[in-house]
Amino acid sequence: MTPVTVAQLTQHVGQRVTLQGWLYNMRSSKKVHFLELRDGSGTVQCIVGLEDVGPELFELAGTLTQESSLELVGEVKAHPKRAGVVEVAVSALTLLGGSKDYPISPKEHGTDFLMDHRHLWLRSSRQHAILRVRHAIIQAVRAFFDQRDFTLIDAPIFTPSACEGTSTLFETDYHDDKAYLTQSGQLYMEAAAAAFGKAYCFGPTFRAEKSKTRRHLAEFWMVEPEVAFMDLEGDMQLAEALLCHVVAHVLETRRPELERLERELAPLERVKAPFPRISYREAIELLQREGHPASFGDDFGGDEETVISKHFDRPVIVHRYPAAMKAFYMKRDPAAPELALCMDVLGPEGYGEIIGGGQREDALDTLLASIDHHQLPREAFEWYLDLRRYGSFPHAGFGLGIERTVSWICGLSHVRETIPFPRLLNRLSP
Ligand code: 4AD
Ligand code: MG
Repeated sequence: MTPVTVAQLTQHVGQRVTLQGWLYNMRSSKKVHFLELRDGSGTVQCIVGLEDVGPELFELAGTLTQESSLELVGEVKAHPKRAGVVEVAVSALTLLGGSKDYPISPKEHGTDFLMDHRHLWLRSSRQHAILRVRHAIIQAVRAFFDQRDFTLIDAPIFTPSACEGTSTLFETDYHDDKAYLTQSGQLYMEAAAAAFGKAYCFGPTFRAEKSKTRRHLAEFWMVEPEVAFMDLEGDMQLAEALLCHVVAHVLETRRPELERLERELAPLERVKAPFPRISYREAIELLQREGHPASFGDDFGGDEETVISKHFDRPVIVHRYPAAMKAFYMKRDPAAPELALCMDVLGPEGYGEIIGGGQREDALDTLLASIDHHQLPREAFEWYLDLRRYGSFPHAGFGLGIERTVSWICGLSHVRETIPFPRLLNRLSP
């Protein structure tokens, strides 16, 4: 009999099936064991009755421990009281792999302990729910761009130079030379935009951030669209449409997971265009009104972003930050050259920045001056400058951090649970 998954069981009511999975939990009485079997697709209650299986199997079932792997055969039955729920009346059972002293018990564990056991922690229902939401977010992101005729162009991981500033580069040996793990695929997407018009990359990116916050990972996944002949306004519209699409897809396909996470749904249901937009200057004024010491030229950290984003009932777009605090590639606002044509999207409910992007400098001389001003090695950027030498074009794009998006949509307090195996300032294993 080919095994079925727990998720498929409702289609097999009245039939005998084979199931394979792990023991999540068990309750027993004198004549019945109630096994909760988990197989990755769901959990189901499996009933082992003394009279149905005989004393030998009944005794074996009684000795099963948490996370033992099993194969069982049984009849699928509708739950006597709960509509739409099924259970399995077991007739045969085989222990495949024992599990002695499984370290994660239903009692409370500390974060470090759980992080050390991340490879096992993934089996718990909460982590399972988060990573299922993560998958749905990634599906939605890719579908969004694919449906809009973007071409997926993979950016390299080893790079010869910085994109987001030199302070957060991971350096590594590269055949007697130096290389850096990529901070962003953006520069390559700019080349791709000239070749494909609309391009995006999706992959891991790396930041040697010394920040130990609830928002920073050393390795995180970013999706980065880049569009030829698009300006800052178009960029903001694209970011807004993407977030609306992603949240709607998660609400449509991951409700059970959001419920398991006890995520309040109303704030997600409000994620509809248009998003409020404020300039950096207005954001400074807002902070000052809130009694936050902030003045023009200050960068926003998590605290400031939290104050700003708590002010709005949906994501807010903050645009036109001072150029001086931004990366070398940003185009300046012709109407106010001290400002960059950039934007950040801050997630609501205090989540802060989830998207950063803007319009790119397209004038060769201005870009050259900016590279010198940022004390970046010109040779490493020659190829990038070629994009301005051969048919330069206005263009814009952004990067959306997957983990910050997962954190916000799931309503989590830290990004460490949003990625299967987090890389943090003080954590490289498992
Ligand atoms: O704002 P950032 O640094 O922008 C860029 O890298 C641009 N080159 C993207 C582009 O325009 N193509 O990063 C973009 C997003 C942030 O908004 C945030 O969501 C995420 O990447 N991010 C991080 N996520 C987790 N841990 C970190 N250390 C992150 N740093 C940035
Ligand atoms: Mg940013």
